[in-house]
Amino acid sequence: MSRSLATITVLTGALLLAGCSDSAGSDDARLSVSGAYIPQPVSADMAAGFLTISNSGAAKDELTSVTSGDGDVTLHETTGGAMEQVSRLPVPAHGQLVFKSGANHLMFDKLKRKPTLGDTVTVELHFAQSDPVVVKMPVKSATYIPKTGH
Ligand code: CU
Repeated sequence: MSRSLATITVLTGALLLAGCSDSAGSDDARLSVSGAYIPQPVSADMAAGFLTISNSGAAKDELTSVTSGDGDVTLHETTGGAMEQVSRLPVPAHGQLVFKSGANHLMFDKLKRKPTLGDTVTVELHFAQSDPVVVKMPVKSATYIPKTGH
């Protein structure tokens, strides 16, 4: 049930993209991804992933799904210490959608192989407006803490 709904969402996104791809106005979302990593998981088939999506454009967008050939990926929010699956997350205009430890994260499930240090896991980010973005997420040590700022 939820799987077929997800498929419909992706198809709708693709149609929207096709409809607006040749109207490249200055008021589009302009997305870039940084700081992607997966802490080496304890479990063989589940892992969390983190990254930052920055939008330098004047229009907001939404992350609608994440796919990977290596397993299932869902979007999770953490509120009050409990994590909850969400179907989409906003990417504000001139803002960021941040996935970080203890907050929003990508949840990998049914992984075909256990991510180990030095591996990369390739994911594709799907948006309501923008073209899909492919991200190679490096697997870091279980205790890796990203540097923040510049
Ligand atoms: Cu989770």
